[in-house]
Amino acid sequence: MTTTVETTAAPRIDNGQVAVVTGATRGLGAVIARTLHAAGYSVLATGSRIGPVQDLADELDPSGKTAAATVLDVRSKDDFSAALQAAVERWGTAHVLVNNAGRSQVQALMDISPEDFSAIVSTNLDGVFLGCQVFGSYFASNGYGRIVNIGSLAGQNGGTATGAHYAAAKGGVVTLTKVFARDLASGGVTVNSVSPGPLDLPVVHETVAPDKLEAVKASIPVGRLGSAEFIASTVALLASPEAASVNGASWDINGGLFMR
Ligand SMILES: NC(=O)c1ccc[n+]([C@@H]2O[C@H](COP(=O)([O-])OP(=O)(O)OC[C@H]3O[C@@H](n4cnc5c(N)ncnc54)[C@H](O)[C@@H]3O)[C@@H](O)[C@H]2O)c1
Repeated sequence: MTTTVETTAAPRIDNGQVAVVTGATRGLGAVIARTLHAAGYSVLATGSRIGPVQDLADELDPSGKTAAATVLDVRSKDDFSAALQAAVERWGTAHVLVNNAGRSQVQALMDISPEDFSAIVSTNLDGVFLGCQVFGSYFASNGYGRIVNIGSLAGQNGGTATGAHYAAAKGGVVTLTKVFARDLASGGVTVNSVSPGPLDLPVVHETVAPDKLEAVKASIPVGRLGSAEFIASTVALLASPEAASVNGASWDINGGLFMR
């Protein structure tokens, strides 16, 4: 006998809070934006190109009341300031920043030029630094805020497929998370990171050949790629007012590839 379970999505209840997500053009950032919107946040989806994030905002709320889009290149402090201003102009304030944007590059260690190194570090690490500075100051001046940074297993174990520049930058994300967490805590702001292992997302399927992907899965103790939806739910948990006691943490979601 088969049993079918019908699930219906719970209706969205506005929670009166505003979240800004970087790198929401696709992949994990888009999943995080959808999850936070479903959880009741008004969401400013940001990306280095307007087209995909505007499409996402239109999908979330065609009326534009609870979703909007803007260009934000995470290497630019001015772009972070402009995005904050856009959220405040639209909704009066902001409560949550998710520093999701990132760029990995498979490159042999000794082939990485100084330019390559800086380019990858500026997206993955400068971006988190600038986002925490701009939104952290604003949140602290309001007495409340939540920042969630997306790190990576590569930042903890040095990486396998991805380059040294990516791994080094992601290691820096964990450290910056602690530094901003300590500095901003008295202002009612928590800063945490999530460190995923390989996820079932387009970037992984694009960069790892199908036969190699099977080997990657086999190397993961739980035998499967991580779920972007679960990472997004974890981000939503850390972004909630109830997460007040979690600060400066890195939550590992890597299928048991790295235990500490
Ligand atoms: N996919 C995985 O297996 C995995 C594992 C661990 C960590 N992560 C991290 O998760 C985050 C999302 O990764 P993804 O898998 O969705 O990858 P992805 O490449 O599909 O998405 C990355 C996003 O960042 C954006 N981006 C890149 N440079 C930018 C810039 N200068 N300014 C603004 N946006 C920029 C891209 O446009 C894209 O929207 C990244 O921080 C990544 O390092 C991913």
